[in-house]
Amino acid sequence: MHDILPEEVGRWQFLEATTRERFAHYGFREIRTPLLETTDLFARSVGASSDIVRKEMYTITRGDTSISLRPESTAPVVRAFIEHSRHRGIAAGYPERLFYIGPMFRYERPQKGRQRQFHQIGVEVLGGEEALIEAETIEMVWGLLKRLRIESIELQLGTVGDVNCRPKYREALREWLLSRVADMCEDCRRRADENPLRVFDCKVEADRQMLIDAPTMGAFLCAPCDAHFSSVKQHLDTLGVPYVEDARLVRGLDYYRRTVFEITAAGLGAQNAILGGGRYDGLVRELGGQDVPGFGFAMGMERTVMLIPDEILPASTIDVSLIALGTEGHHAAIGLAQRLRGQGVSVQIPMSDRPMGAQLKRADRVDARFALFVGQDELKSGHYGLKDLRSGKQERLDEAGLVARLRTKEDGGA
Ligand code: HAM
Repeated sequence: MHDILPEEVGRWQFLEATTRERFAHYGFREIRTPLLETTDLFARSVGASSDIVRKEMYTITRGDTSISLRPESTAPVVRAFIEHSRHRGIAAGYPERLFYIGPMFRYERPQKGRQRQFHQIGVEVLGGEEALIEAETIEMVWGLLKRLRIESIELQLGTVGDVNCRPKYREALREWLLSRVADMCEDCRRRADENPLRVFDCKVEADRQMLIDAPTMGAFLCAPCDAHFSSVKQHLDTLGVPYVEDARLVRGLDYYRRTVFEITAAGLGAQNAILGGGRYDGLVRELGGQDVPGFGFAMGMERTVMLIPDEILPASTIDVSLIALGTEGHHAAIGLAQRLRGQGVSVQIPMSDRPMGAQLKRADRVDARFALFVGQDELKSGHYGLKDLRSGKQERLDEAGLVARLRTKEDGGA
């Protein structure tokens, strides 16, 4: 679990602001759910045999209730959707579009790009079966990554079928695996029987080699699932989003039906998935709600902020560093700082009378845009010396002129 220090927090705020703006253009609205949910909610959605539920949850028992820090937010959002009867607000063709930003918790082995407390930006679209939902939502986040100037990204797209065709595939895969258990790692032996699709998550090289010949979902897809997948791809083509089909894409959560996808980026090391998601028709009903289909994804914020290039981050947060000369200058500067702040200018002023050199050093340290000098001469003439710390240019301005100048903050004319 990491602290996010003031020097880094600008990247996070930039990511959040850019996301909020883009998602709003697609009609997404924010939802905030509690950090804790009943443990049972995750077992019933993410899956009792998933790694997340089996070994990664932080669980607290209070009396006879067991609650867990959320390892993800699809289940909490679906729970809230059901609890507040949100299905009443959706109409055919117009699903509910939700997004969330916040911390998630998984007791995993920490490594680069993997923390125990991490943050996700996620979206959930509830109330539509149309393939355009997948395509439009993926295009939204693809465009977001482009806007953040994250290059070398790849969209992997697959389908896991539905309740009709997936069980047949699962059975075929299980049989194939069980005839080879002797050669597999211990984890895969357990997976082969309990949750065969999970074997594709295996990191053991020998197992991966063996799995190249394993049967894949494609051959087992029923006609409606096949048509749906084609339709998703067609819409992505229309929207100009490139993808790579991946017949072995399995996700670590059990609620997916039909479309699944991930976006990976170069430069992240082993944990190269910036985001992942898929369709989860059936989940709302399974958790006690109506028959409402769903689709969504979540993006890992730690991984994303690492990839945002410095050049596009907004610069300095301090406009003006006041350089107060002498006791009288310092005294006058206190009121001046207050008035400038009232005009929307950000101002730094030392808390006591300090030598000029120290004050200039501090202006440099916080990357202030201007140094504003307040000393005897300035107080007598009512004109202040303003130095642009980027260009080195100096001006003398009265207070009205200062306000006008600092509120525009542009390089200005003369
Ligand atoms: P997930 O694949 O488990 O999906 O997580 C989504 C993303 O969260 C990952 O691609 C990764 O970037 C980030 N992430 C996951 N675990 C960690 C970790 N320990 N440290 C850092 N980053 C991490 C879900 O959570 C689903 N709820 C997504 C979804 C929404 N599906 C449908 N709707």
